[in-house]
Amino acid sequence: MNEAIIDHANAAYQHAEEKAAQYFAVLHEQLKKKTYITSLSEDIRLWKKNHFPRHSWLSIFSKTKKKPSTKEYHRYIQWLDQSGKLENYLHRSVSYMYMRDLGKTLDSPDTQAKITRFVADIKQQLTKPIRNRDEIQPELMSVARLYRWAQKEGIEEEIIWVINKLDAVSSHIPKEMNAEHAQRKLIKIIIGVVLHMKDNMDDNTPALERAKQLGEAIRLGYSYGLTYPFIDDLLDSGALTTEEEEQYSNMIREALLTGVVPDIGEWQGKHNEIIHFIHSELREAFKYIKEYQRPQTERHFFEQSYVFFCAQNIDRVKDLANANYTNEELYIPVILKSSSSRLIVRSVIRAPEDAGFEQRTFYYGIYNQLADDFADMLDDLQEGAVTPYTYYVKYRQQRTDLINPFELYWTVISHIIHHVHHSDTATREVILDRAINSLKRCKERVGAAKYEEIMDIFAVGDSAFHLLIQQMVQQADDVDFFDKLLRDQLVLQLANNRKEKEHFQALIATIRKEIDSILHLCKPSSLPIEDPLFDAANYSLNGDGKRIRPILTWVMGVNEYGLQPAALVPLLRSLEFMHTASLIFDDLPSQDNAATRRGRATLHRVYDSATAELTALFLIQKAIQEQSSLDNFDAATVLKLIQYSARKAEELCRGQSMDLQSKGMRLTLEQMNAICYYKTGVAFEASLVMPAILAKAPEGEVAVLKKFAYHAGIAFQIKDDLLDIEGDMNVLGKPVGQDMENNNSNFVSILGANEARKMMWEHYCLAAEALHELPRNIAFLKHLLHYLVNRLR
Ligand code: IPE
Ligand code: IPE
Ligand code: MG
Ligand code: MG
Ligand code: MG
Repeated sequence: MNEAIIDHANAAYQHAEEKAAQYFAVLHEQLKKKTYITSLSEDIRLWKKNHFPRHSWLSIFSKTKKKPSTKEYHRYIQWLDQSGKLENYLHRSVSYMYMRDLGKTLDSPDTQAKITRFVADIKQQLTKPIRNRDEIQPELMSVARLYRWAQKEGIEEEIIWVINKLDAVSSHIPKEMNAEHAQRKLIKIIIGVVLHMKDNMDDNTPALERAKQLGEAIRLGYSYGLTYPFIDDLLDSGALTTEEEEQYSNMIREALLTGVVPDIGEWQGKHNEIIHFIHSELREAFKYIKEYQRPQTERHFFEQSYVFFCAQNIDRVKDLANANYTNEELYIPVILKSSSSRLIVRSVIRAPEDAGFEQRTFYYGIYNQLADDFADMLDDLQEGAVTPYTYYVKYRQQRTDLINPFELYWTVISHIIHHVHHSDTATREVILDRAINSLKRCKERVGAAKYEEIMDIFAVGDSAFHLLIQQMVQQADDVDFFDKLLRDQLVLQLANNRKEKEHFQALIATIRKEIDSILHLCKPSSLPIEDPLFDAANYSLNGDGKRIRPILTWVMGVNEYGLQPAALVPLLRSLEFMHTASLIFDDLPSQDNAATRRGRATLHRVYDSATAELTALFLIQKAIQEQSSLDNFDAATVLKLIQYSARKAEELCRGQSMDLQSKGMRLTLEQMNAICYYKTGVAFEASLVMPAILAKAPEGEVAVLKKFAYHAGIAFQIKDDLLDIEGDMNVLGKPVGQDMENNNSNFVSILGANEARKMMWEHYCLAAEALHELPRNIAFLKHLLHYLVNRLR
């Protein structure tokens, strides 16, 4: 590597270090003189006026509802709204974000106007009436909601891109790392970059330009955000061996110095696959960021990133067994890493320089880091990680020179209010809200006894001040933050989703096996002349089908409606028989003329068209036989099911016919939807509705299931059309490029892949939204939908 580059980078680091040392000296001085106590005591006196619950006579007599737990976020928000607290609650949080993430001063009228507008937006979203959902709490964040936002902003492609990226990252996080937190951090960075970009625009930015910039922010956010899970967290996690860690660190260092991720070379360690994934993601990310920069901002970006990386490295190698770290050694890297990580966000979007932002952000970082380290202290102690808190816990008795980090924390708060924000009232309000909230949250998390223990260790020098803080923690009210609620909900949801997804995958694998085992048709004693129909039918059935339709029926029938699996067997067989018959017809030379299906030669290629046609007819008859032998249900119900089934089969035939008729035609959206629904959607509908018929489910519920199936079915078919142009034949088990060859008209051939993909996601949203109308949460359908649009086969 070029010596000059290294020298330059080291000089930049040194410069940053000097600045941090000066800041630290200033803080230390204030701490020693205890000036922060005088100023904060006065601040708290002013602040608490708005935070002590005032019991008016009215409120004692009127039945004010008890505050629900924030875990029931939906009821909690409703409660805030009804007690007139929602606006302040959101205002507090948004103001805080403007200060922390955007480095703003709260005393500017422009910023206040933006905050007020943002608050009104969120409030409107949160208080939208929700149908049918009194008991069930809808997900606060969901892919469908995200996509709806993307549609409003015209950035669907970027959102689809980032959803896929996040999925890929989540499936490549080593088990030693906390997957939810890794994902959460990445998401948080993306949101941060988007907010910065939004803040750089104004009402006059034309819609197209706005969409372009927001789209770039998403890609930049992901590209920069990747460094959180895949650089710092990965190196922290202990997942890599010492040699791997070194090889990896060197690679990152070189990337930051040169702006190019070097080749991976020979990877010695055992994490070969995951490192290759990370390497290719980081390489793409670096390339994207670099191409986005201008020469001046590029230098800035890489310098800050290098400072960030080095400061983290210095912190990482610290050893809790070493009793000799000075205060400077403990705090300067903390100042550096926490401020550079936030400074980078603005430079990554190549925003113009803003000295005010840089200064405020530089001073602010350590506040945040000390708050985070305080929250994580017990975990850090267990892991033996060095933070100012863990170090103080261990050495406070033998090292009387050590600074009490909790005292420094309050010093920083005072510094930010008075020196950085010039005693601004709004800043005082929001930062004290935050500080008291952090302590309340800690107390709630660890319990009162443990909290007392912690406070005894960190009790700040002046006992009156210490008591004052504890009194606030005990009594002050209205200090909750919306972003904390989002964070908790996000982690909860990510963890929940992961569990549900694992369960979903295990469930479909098990049921698929079960279904495979009941499909075989037993040949009766032979007739005077041999016919191949049983063998031919078994050949088609034995192929590697996904069995989605009978799986859906099984899960709805057994798990949702409590039917006996054994009683359902004839229905499961009939569904797969019908479906297989439709595929045999579809593949015939007179229709799609396909050579392979389910990973093997098509039936007409193995036998001939006549045999294939007869086998398909034969399978349909078998399906009807099965349906009519649903002995465990009353006759009228079975009759209703057969009538319904015959109608759906008729529709499927018509769908296939419309499909063939429309070759080469420019169809309207309505026509495309109709073809998709008839040829594909009806089979999904049948899989959901048939078990509902057997279980005599209420009409209203069946109507919702139909709506879900309509959109899920169309989404499934659009995905099938997309796979026809971008899928892998070996994975699909059927030919690709067939639709083009046949001059078929479908969403992809008419709209092109990108627009078709958007349409698929539109139907994804409509299906997901339909699920909200069900009286209970059916996690399986949510995951099925996700699987339908993300599948590779
Ligand atoms: C293929 O259905 C026919 C379409 C409706 C696109 P599947 O993709 O479910 O096929 P198998 O059953 O897994 O083979
Ligand atoms: C066929 O759609 C739908 C049915 C068989 C009912 P396609 O013709 O696109 O299905 P594939 O791609 O051959 O599986
Ligand atoms: Mg077809
Ligand atoms: Mg076909
Ligand atoms: Mg197809």
